[in-house]
Amino acid sequence: MLVSQGTPMSGRAPKLPAHQITTANLGAAYPLLAEAGLGHRGVVIGHDLLGGAFVYDPFELYAQGVLSNPNMVVFGQIGRGKSSFIKTYLWRQAVYGRRAWVVDPKGEYADLAAAWGVQPVALRPGGQVRLNPLEPGPSPPESAEGGSGADRRQLELLAALASACLGRVLVPRERVAIELALAALAGASDVPTLPRVIDTLLSPSAASALAVRSDERRLLEDGRDVALELRRLVHGDLRGMFDGPTSATIDLSAPLVVLDLSALYNSSALGVLMACASAWLQSALAREARERPGASNGLIVVVDEAWAILANLGVARWLQASWKFSRAFGVANIAVLHRASDLQAVGSAGSEQVGLAQGLLSDSETRVIYAQPAGEVRAARDLLSLSPTEADLLPQLRRGVALWKVGARSFLVQHRLAPDEGPLVDTDAAMGADGR
Ligand SMILES: Nc1ncnc2c1ncn2[C@@H]1O[C@H](COP(=O)(O)OP(=O)(O)OP(=O)(O)O)[C@@H](O)[C@H]1O
Ligand SMILES: [Mg+2]
Repeated sequence: MLVSQGTPMSGRAPKLPAHQITTANLGAAYPLLAEAGLGHRGVVIGHDLLGGAFVYDPFELYAQGVLSNPNMVVFGQIGRGKSSFIKTYLWRQAVYGRRAWVVDPKGEYADLAAAWGVQPVALRPGGQVRLNPLEPGPSPPESAEGGSGADRRQLELLAALASACLGRVLVPRERVAIELALAALAGASDVPTLPRVIDTLLSPSAASALAVRSDERRLLEDGRDVALELRRLVHGDLRGMFDGPTSATIDLSAPLVVLDLSALYNSSALGVLMACASAWLQSALAREARERPGASNGLIVVVDEAWAILANLGVARWLQASWKFSRAFGVANIAVLHRASDLQAVGSAGSEQVGLAQGLLSDSETRVIYAQPAGEVRAARDLLSLSPTEADLLPQLRRGVALWKVGARSFLVQHRLAPDEGPLVDTDAAMGADGR
């Protein structure tokens, strides 16, 4: 008989040492309950509620073949801890020398930037800093159809911006007018800017008109609405941010680059501005890859509040295509959304537009899902292929707890804040201060 300390023979309650077991053994003992985890290489995110620390690194998992892409989409109701997770995740990745570029529509990454010893790049109408979204970037896959890669990327971006500003899809005449304006500018030695595209749209040359068997007056009419809408970014309420050569003051070699768009957070044009900012980041990435091959490996690019971009289908299409370049550059993208249905809100059911927005999801093999309202559970279950048990959990998740889907595997993770990370993430205090 095995007699151990404090057995019933002594008449006292037994005091047995706590049973210890490795997560690998636990996984084998409880195969449908416990997961072996994702290994120990990466940053600690927090606590796996079914056992042990939860460690994650998309670059590592991609290298191991566990993931086929390093991109991530984060969903969650307001105030559930999405941005806090991103900020601490970037901060912890810095230990491994990883850099990050962030599109920050709320202006809430300033404390993180300060901790990293950098200043956010504040973009505001009539401000000091300009970014040129038309700088040459990666070539869209369709570039085989004709035109140089740079031309086609500029065309896709301008078409997306114009369609977002006009609130409708462009007609073929409008697309051709943009294409001809870009072609007319292509011969110049310097990079096109939005003011020059608009001038060219409003003063088309005879040679451009002849190329489509038209005349200058008709070509002007074809491009007039596009030019007048884009003019908003040059002379209107959005002037002074994306309407000239990029300011020399921006240091992209910094460990963290934050593009602060908070001056226009409540503007209906937020999506357009975020698209311009993301376009510029992509050009910068392509330039870095040309000038310093391999330097972008391990870069993390975050688009917080990305729902504002997806609300416009032209821009959503452009963003989705651009995510495909990330693999070539060794970059991990992160988009932050509120609801799974943000991905369906861009068009009618079954439309090409919805397919494009959902393509963003299929290019993101890591999905982090914070609490969703009961009315969203069905959309989340269908879009994210959740089991009925996982879907039922979503409305009950408390702040900081998320369902992680990493490839085909699932984890329930409590994100933990380290004692010194509180000031980096406290958006409740910021909301109290400015009344938002
Ligand atoms: N894991 C956590 N533990 C404790 N507090 C947390 C945790 N995550 C977030 N918080 C707190 O919750 C508040 C809201 O977090 P956060 O701003 O990250 O939410 P959010 O989901 O990004 O909201 P929004 O949709 O409005 O952008 C912050 O003040 C933060 O300090
Ligand atoms: Mg947030």
